[in-house]
Amino acid sequence: MVFDFNEKELFDVIIIGEGIAGLATAYYLPDKLKVLVLSKASQDISNTWMAQGGIAASISKFDSPESHFNDTVAAGDGLCDETVVRVVVQEGRERIVEMIQLGVPFERIDDEFSLAREGGHSFARILHYGDQTGKAIASTLKSYLVSNRRVKFLEGFFFEQIIKSNGKAAGITGYFLDNNKRFTFLAPNVVIATGGACHIYKSTTNPFTATGDGIAAGFRAGAYISDMEFVQFHPTVLKDERSPMLLITEAARGMGARLLTPEKEPFMEGYHIMEDLAPRFVVVRRMAELMLDKGYDYFLLDMRHFSDEDVKNISFIASELRKRGYDLKNDLIPVIPAAHYFIGGLKTDLYGRTNVPGIYACGEASCSGLHGANRLASNSLLEGLVFGKRIADSISASGLSGFKSAVKDLEITARPEFRGKCDDVFKEINVLKEKMDARAGIARVEEGLKEILSFIEKYYYDALEFCGTNKCESEFYNMVLISKWVVTMALNRKESRGVHLRLDYPQKNDDEFKFHQSIRRSYADN
Ligand code: SIN
Repeated sequence: MVFDFNEKELFDVIIIGEGIAGLATAYYLPDKLKVLVLSKASQDISNTWMAQGGIAASISKFDSPESHFNDTVAAGDGLCDETVVRVVVQEGRERIVEMIQLGVPFERIDDEFSLAREGGHSFARILHYGDQTGKAIASTLKSYLVSNRRVKFLEGFFFEQIIKSNGKAAGITGYFLDNNKRFTFLAPNVVIATGGACHIYKSTTNPFTATGDGIAAGFRAGAYISDMEFVQFHPTVLKDERSPMLLITEAARGMGARLLTPEKEPFMEGYHIMEDLAPRFVVVRRMAELMLDKGYDYFLLDMRHFSDEDVKNISFIASELRKRGYDLKNDLIPVIPAAHYFIGGLKTDLYGRTNVPGIYACGEASCSGLHGANRLASNSLLEGLVFGKRIADSISASGLSGFKSAVKDLEITARPEFRGKCDDVFKEINVLKEKMDARAGIARVEEGLKEILSFIEKYYYDALEFCGTNKCESEFYNMVLISKWVVTMALNRKESRGVHLRLDYPQKNDDEFKFHQSIRRSYADN
């Protein structure tokens, strides 16, 4: 089908995703550009909106960017890109000041910001709004954009694929979920800010939208993906059957909550100098060891000694726990580790650029090198702000002329008709998630990883070529594609580092494995 260019609207920038990465990019773009922000669900269904703990920045007079740098690099277990870390901890402070000026209501005590402490941080440096920080930042940014800018927002839009022309980004295709009406939007700049892919696991804190759609579309379009084996599990997630699972912020441990075994014994003492506040992967690794050695299938979080002020700081969690029958002042809370943050993603440079001209990635969909093999708590919102600005600057500097004539005769491949049925796909999605939990979750061995690979390979080649005929099939293919590279890179990495724990190779091996793994689909060049 030949695209009828005259009937369509062109944009300068298309941003997919309205978490902090997408919104910050839109915010920092000049108003003269025509910007479209698309998202699969409403704004409240995003990891940003659900982010409890907060946003890390060394703004206290006792703290410094150097200390934030050191903590980030230590948590990253040898794989952080130190140039990126330096940029984020330095520029992050300026971005935070801009957010405060914009009206983000970070908590204060008298005239000082109230700073929380989380795992792996040497200082209290987490700015927060109670335990609903992501919501406070995202809603402030969006209200500003809606009231003051010409940015066009379209929600309920399923993004299928990136269109290219002469090897460069030229737009995207997708459809509205309420009426299946397909659209092609053209732009020379496509920013993938779709979040991560933790829904490849059954146990996850992520909303149902986190199926890796943007990472998969970027990969199909020829962009490199990196570090896919590193999936961060959060140690304190309420053990229950609901999805998404209820996260209990690490800030609770920053306020003195204790981790206990089911026999009510502390288990981090003597294991790491920071004890319960050790970097996240250290705590999860200890839990994995105890699960294997002692057969535990849960742990306990003790917040019974919290003051009323402490409880006020986590009032959302306290109220969600109450709805589920727990009173945190009286009850020990059963917790398990669950998939929380996808460290890998589309490989980007210091300006959020992928290797495909015009395709950018920001936030959890990207792999900037900030997090290394284990993300330091509360660094991800900061990454979204810093790279949102850098991407906006890069697009503004890139010059936008000539695009209209370049896409004049662009051919858009016709998409297959919609197919309605999802039942069989749901069955396969559940099989995939259960296998990923059991074999590619917090502890991995070669045999288990190979077993999942044989399941994934039944679908991988379809998933590589084709993004499905309806939402459930597309999401399944996207999850298959992502899982294939999580598992393959996990198999290749015959060592334990950061969040990647190989029971058959329990040591870190810098001599052989201090490197990043990346892959691209090279025949997608045009
Ligand atoms: C939390 O509040 O524990 C989550 C913070 C994060 O994942 O960065």
